Amino acid sequence: MKQAIFALLVSGTYAFPWVAEQPGVDSSLFEARRAHKRQQTGEGAGGPATCPFNANHVAASPVTSKYPYNNAKNGLPGNGKGGFQVPATGDTAHAFVAPGPNDIRGPCPGLNAAANHKFLAHDGITTFNELVDAQQNIYNVGYDLALVLAVLGLTTADGDPVTEKLSIGCDATTRTSVNPALTGSEPGLDGHNKFESDASLTRNDFFTHNGDDFSFNGTLFGMMDKTCGSNFDVSGLSLYRKQRWHQSQVENPNFYFGPLALLLYGAASFLYELMPSGTHGYAPDLATISSFFGAEKQSDGTWGFVHEKIPPNWTNRVSPYSGTDVNQQIKLGPEYKNLGCPTALTK
Ligand code: HEM
Repeated sequence: MKQAIFALLVSGTYAFPWVAEQPGVDSSLFEARRAHKRQQTGEGAGGPATCPFNANHVAASPVTSKYPYNNAKNGLPGNGKGGFQVPATGDTAHAFVAPGPNDIRGPCPGLNAAANHKFLAHDGITTFNELVDAQQNIYNVGYDLALVLAVLGLTTADGDPVTEKLSIGCDATTRTSVNPALTGSEPGLDGHNKFESDASLTRNDFFTHNGDDFSFNGTLFGMMDKTCGSNFDVSGLSLYRKQRWHQSQVENPNFYFGPLALLLYGAASFLYELMPSGTHGYAPDLATISSFFGAEKQSDGTWGFVHEKIPPNWTNRVSPYSGTDVNQQIKLGPEYKNLGCPTALTK
């Protein structure tokens, strides 16, 4: 059954079929992508030569009857009922543990935090089932959206559909691939112009930073905080996305903003839809967002990095965040135009 889902989803526009008709999106790029994928060569900052290797791979800590969370297991639907604390009081199996030098982290703060709390394998080599379960158990992502994101991660960003393994960061082909000679390189989520794109919120563009499109950039976090006025809601993030789009256009001669870059607008919505805590009135405030991004303010006012952490006493959203919900956020009318859509900017 999973293979059938893969086949449907890799057809490109299935997950977000309306994307091809959006203003500013050249839908012929879907075909171009199939014919000639623009991707890293397996060299550079996210390449295999410098990718950490942890010989002691330990799978994610499972949910238990004592600490069931959404009871999502084995890639199947969970309860879909949020509003609970994560990690639960007393659940030491999901306490924060900083990644070591042999653990892989990547461009996604949501997944980095999940690995730091062992909802995903702590070494960063994860599986389809872990991805689907963790999204439901931590963030109360709806099962439909959890599936789409996990499949996009495994296929678009080049994990391995046979082993169903994915590196949440750099190229770990030797550990994800069923057979490297057959599959070629599997660059993981750092792989550029797959899921990872230019003009990210807090990550550099691939070509302007020697392939480092995954490390947290405190200057960008500070810019986002300033633009949003420490309130990371849709209007603040819309404006910031527009600024980033413009910045990349000016600074990056290789700036590429293909159809899949629209996923970035979905990721931006995670700040105000998935990260806010019931204990903070579900406000996308600085304390919450900085914790998920691993951002810590320094005495000189700049932002340093301390690893992504679920904030203390954090309770997740009550209703599941579905595929329909995220589509609505991406398509938002006037706000959408502010999100940095190329057409909007040239008007
Ligand atoms: C299987 C599920 C997921 C996959 C494969 C995935 C993958 C990615 C990738 C590749 C990026 C980089 C995009 C870019 O900026 O170029 C990203 C960014 C992001 N993801 Fe995820 N993600 C997943 C789930 C989540 C969840 C559940 C959250 C919620 C907390 C989340 C939050 C974010 C945020 C906020 C960003 C933007 C980071 C930035 O631009 O600085 N993601 N994700």
